[in-house]
Amino acid sequence: MRGVDRRRLKTGVPSHVRHPFCRHLEERLLMDQVRARVVVRKKEDTHMRAIVYHTYGSPDVLKLEEVQKPVPQDNEVLVHVHAASVNAADWHLLRGTPFLARLANGLQKPKNTKLGADVAGRVEAVGRNVTQFQVGDEVFGCIPLHELGSFAEYVCAHEDAVALKPARMTFEQAAAVPLAAFTALQGLRDKGQIQPGQKVLVNGASGGVGTAAVQIAKSFGTEVTGVCSTRNVDMVRSIGADHVIDYTQEDFTQNGQRYDLIFDAVGNRSVSDCKRALSPNGICAVAGFTTLPHLFQVIVLGAWVSRTGSKKIGLMETANPNKKDLLFIKELLEAGKVVPVIDRTYPLSEVPEAIRYLEEGHAQGKVVITVAT
Ligand SMILES: NC(=O)c1ccc[n+]([C@@H]2O[C@H](COP(=O)([O-])OP(=O)(O)OC[C@H]3O[C@@H](n4cnc5c(N)ncnc54)[C@H](OP(=O)(O)O)[C@@H]3O)[C@@H](O)[C@H]2O)c1
Repeated sequence: MRGVDRRRLKTGVPSHVRHPFCRHLEERLLMDQVRARVVVRKKEDTHMRAIVYHTYGSPDVLKLEEVQKPVPQDNEVLVHVHAASVNAADWHLLRGTPFLARLANGLQKPKNTKLGADVAGRVEAVGRNVTQFQVGDEVFGCIPLHELGSFAEYVCAHEDAVALKPARMTFEQAAAVPLAAFTALQGLRDKGQIQPGQKVLVNGASGGVGTAAVQIAKSFGTEVTGVCSTRNVDMVRSIGADHVIDYTQEDFTQNGQRYDLIFDAVGNRSVSDCKRALSPNGICAVAGFTTLPHLFQVIVLGAWVSRTGSKKIGLMETANPNKKDLLFIKELLEAGKVVPVIDRTYPLSEVPEAIRYLEEGHAQGKVVITVAT
């Protein structure tokens, strides 16, 4: 019984009056308990629960499994995930569609079996070259698409992929922001060349990217029109849109209005529709697509229109998570210029339901996953 605290053997009966066999049995039982506790602790140190998929398919192929806990590289932090959020990228990579998604992650089956880009949590460990964070810091950020993994209890992130979480925000709020805000910011600023005073239209203003785009466009000092369905009109107005068009009642490409910048977070309009709604030197930055023909039309016809006239129509590049933009977004959050809109939250075990819901295409803001509480 070396190393075992005999005081824990209290049974109410002094040990010298108990039968030696009983004492032996109690000691054996206690040793078993001690060993079991040691094993459990070791497993907690090396393992975690994560949502994984081993084959491309619908959300039905997702499983909550016990997997190896990741170990941070020299420039990485290990984040104890408190919340994550779902993005279109998750279901594209899950399904392996469009086929391009497989080029990066395996043609037959996924090489990286985890999903989840957006993350908010607490730093649990740091790599030896990490200078920006220490254990216990509350952070938020975005895991690059080829390394997804925030639908898990722990995830490693390069120290440049995360920033200190705005103190007044919850983990859920912070996790709702990064990828949608990167997309909106880079679409409006880099592809759209946004300028103060412009008239900006956001198509799909009620979704994850759209709610970020309305607020970021406002922060650039523009006059914003949001396009959404009837049930979202009040919400889109409440986040700052100057005008709201209910697409079930009115077609923004047919009402005679012209916009300097159209940010399309739906990708359901033809190039000629977008061209009609643009002012003479207007730019249309398309972030999403509803069908492959629409995508090809924007790429091919959009390039032709952009080359032959004064209007520019084209697909924005895949959002590029980076530290500079994350800090810019953090400032907008701290200034209250961007307030995350959260539609629903699901626990980690219900990531399949969360992805199914997002895939329906009618989320009102972001769909969040709560992991640790
Ligand atoms: N380029 C990139 O790097 C990048 C990154 C992230 C996302 N994306 C793309 O951006 C798009 C938007 O992503 P998301 O996360 O915002 O999606 P989401 O949250 O699923 O957005 C869905 C929203 O679109 C609205 N909507 C549906 N049909 C509409 C229509 N005809 N007109 C106007 N609004 C409509 C829905 O509102 P109702 O329910 O009212 O219809 C819903 O609020 C997706 O295509 C995604 O693939 C691209």
